[in-house]
Amino acid sequence: MQFVHIPVMLEECMKALDLKEGGVYFDATLGGASHTMEILKRTSPSGKVVATDLDEEAIANAKVKLSDYLDRIKIFNTNYKNFNEVKNLAGIDGFDGALMDLGVSSYQLDNRSRGFSYMANDSVLDMRMNRNSDKSAWDVVNKYDKSKLAYILSVYGEEKFAENIAANIVKARQVKPIDTTGELVEIIDRSIPFKFKQNGHPAKKSFQAIRIEVNEELDGLDAAIKDIIRGLKKGSHVAIITFHSLEDAIVKRTFKDLETDCICDKRLPICVCNKKREIKILTKKPIEPSEEELERNPRSKSAKLRVAEKL
Ligand SMILES: C[S@@+](CC[C@H](N)C(=O)[O-])C[C@H]1O[C@@H](n2cnc3c(N)ncnc32)[C@H](O)[C@@H]1O
Repeated sequence: MQFVHIPVMLEECMKALDLKEGGVYFDATLGGASHTMEILKRTSPSGKVVATDLDEEAIANAKVKLSDYLDRIKIFNTNYKNFNEVKNLAGIDGFDGALMDLGVSSYQLDNRSRGFSYMANDSVLDMRMNRNSDKSAWDVVNKYDKSKLAYILSVYGEEKFAENIAANIVKARQVKPIDTTGELVEIIDRSIPFKFKQNGHPAKKSFQAIRIEVNEELDGLDAAIKDIIRGLKKGSHVAIITFHSLEDAIVKRTFKDLETDCICDKRLPICVCNKKREIKILTKKPIEPSEEELERNPRSKSAKLRVAEKL
């Protein structure tokens, strides 16, 4: 299958990164490599990228796409949460900028064998970005107890009918395991009253929730953002694209925390916490895709870009 991923807010990201010829940049989520390729082009002839991705297939495809630039890129098949280790292995003292384009790629969504899409009927329930990981969507759907399932659907999917869906999943799997995306979609569909099905596909929120759980997308995101920012040179920028409100809330909160100076009780005569402001937030409100981009790439719909400068 061909790896097609239309990059989201490409121009906005390049501008946000304030690219310099010869700079060294970190791309936490290489994916289809469109952002990385653009960084490499615009920092020619000697700019470099260090990139991570959990997905071996994405990396194999990216290497083909980036074949003219392989001397200027180092790719690590690992979680961006291992940023500090990657930075050491790559031998970089400080990066000139970093990009995180969170979530799944179009390739992962469109590849039926990966089980990310509620549009495919017959895919196995997988949803792992890292195919060596031992927790798949099948495990979540078939092994989690009812209350844990309901919690995940409600919190990660913001699904109103989480309790209903969880109850029906548990009932269905008492007869036989739920093996395919189609079987899961059918259970979700009949758990939601008709009049609440007008806004998009009924399984969208539940699939998002299960995917977040499988890939532990929110766990440790704040710590990873802090590590990445602390690995930047002074004056460098970090640009983060999110695709749902929970991720965006974490980025917003983490930026706010890093921008805050001393948090001591105001009544104390001197600071004892020693907390120092580490960044300046450059986007008071997140940047969103233009009308033109939304038309050209409807998948960019929920994207939000936040940018900060390392002090
Ligand atoms: C939205 S895509 C990135 C697209 C990319 N910017 C491009 O230009 O094609 C997100 C990618 O990040 C990867 N990813 C998601 N979470 C990750 C993590 N914690 N560590 C490393 N890679 C991750 C996914 O496997 C996917 O390939």
